[in-house]
Amino acid sequence: MARKSLIAANWKMYKTPDEALTFVQAFLPLVANHTRDEIALFPSVTSLATVVHAAAGSNIQVGLQNMHYENEGAYTGETSPIMLKAVRATHTLIGHSERRQYFAETDAIVNKKLHAALAHGIVPVVCIGESLVEREAGETASVLKTQLTGGLSGIAAEQAAPIVIAYEPVWAIGTGKTATPQMAVEAHRIVRAEVARLLGSEIASAIRILYGGSVKPENASSLLNEEEIDGALVGGASLKPDSFAAIVHY
Ligand code: PGA
Repeated sequence: MARKSLIAANWKMYKTPDEALTFVQAFLPLVANHTRDEIALFPSVTSLATVVHAAAGSNIQVGLQNMHYENEGAYTGETSPIMLKAVRATHTLIGHSERRQYFAETDAIVNKKLHAALAHGIVPVVCIGESLVEREAGETASVLKTQLTGGLSGIAAEQAAPIVIAYEPVWAIGTGKTATPQMAVEAHRIVRAEVARLLGSEIASAIRILYGGSVKPENASSLLNEEEIDGALVGGASLKPDSFAAIVHY
């Protein structure tokens, strides 16, 4: 089954609203007629509405980098699914490794967020990946399976269609070290097989699995031309319009 790739920009804690607007104005013409892949921007929360407005009517989708699972409540500093939808954003990252590492996000929390995203019709990009220690100990497959089993717990095949998975080896994020296409493909096969076990083969063959971790214009085509790799989640190289557009046009 042909899967449409998703090329996504994770801006992390970079860009003010003015800087985000400047990016979108420069970026839109560079990808104006691009229909081969989906394109998504994940700005910081203060730039979310600005980016949604600037990208309205274009081929660019917009989402949060992190979303709480409750609709509202006493959760200082958090952003709810209702708030995301109120500004007409459509996507959210869930369980990025930086959320797991610095904000103690567990697979159980990832799971609650995933349920909330699906209940609200928000496209969830669930991030998983092993650390260097885990890879070197030969634990990559078991780590990915544990993250998927916990993260996808209680999700029925009938509701799983919108889910996107991002495989991001932690040792490749922001380090300039990229997984080789072969390493990424091997991990994606493990992920797809585990999704098949959890949600059935139909979902597994349709689900998009993105690769993330030091994707840049120079290595994008070798990764993205692999049939197993259905897009990219790009951090550092997504901050400049030219660079991110070059990745979109891999
Ligand atoms: P990077 O970040 O491209 O800067 O390695 C990727 C990510 O964290 O999603």
